[in-house]
Amino acid sequence: MIGVLVSGNGSNLQALLDAGLPVSAVASNRNDAHALVRAREAGVPAATFSLDCHADREERDLVMATWLEKHGIELVVLAGYMHLLTKPFLDRFPDRIVNVHPSLLPQFPGGHAIEDALAAGVETTGVTIHLVDEGLDTGTVLRQEAVPLDPRETLEERLHAVEHRLLPAVVHEMMAM
Ligand code: GRF
Repeated sequence: MIGVLVSGNGSNLQALLDAGLPVSAVASNRNDAHALVRAREAGVPAATFSLDCHADREERDLVMATWLEKHGIELVVLAGYMHLLTKPFLDRFPDRIVNVHPSLLPQFPGGHAIEDALAAGVETTGVTIHLVDEGLDTGTVLRQEAVPLDPRETLEERLHAVEHRLLPAVVHEMMAM
């Protein structure tokens, strides 16, 4: 069973749901994330774990990991989740947490990968699916696909289209491992 962590729109969550993958719990750090609406519409249990309600990040992550475990989660997907995970969470799901990132890592880690690629003037960027560790987009790369920057007007749309194809495919493979 898959747990998905979200912070925003949730189009990658939607791609996982549309692919028929067994998403059984969705956790967010923000209660205004549209992804929570998508989860509820799909009938998937969803909850918010805001930092404001906890002493620190470690405590929040521990509570969130325990909630996911209660829902039988064995594989965690970060789909636009904008916080780093701490050791108490990472230790619960060793080598079973994946993230989708809109660049060819190790190029352009962090929250502004598309803007950073445009500013750097590279010809090609892309999408990376990788395992999650304590670093900022530093875990082992599982899959990458290149996307040309031009035409720039459609770059974001083309990156999302690749994400929505690649992430469910990799998650499907990981389910079998
Ligand atoms: C995606 O571009 C993903 O690569 C990045 O954040 C974005 C999330 O989009 N980590 P969405 O919330 O899945 O629509």
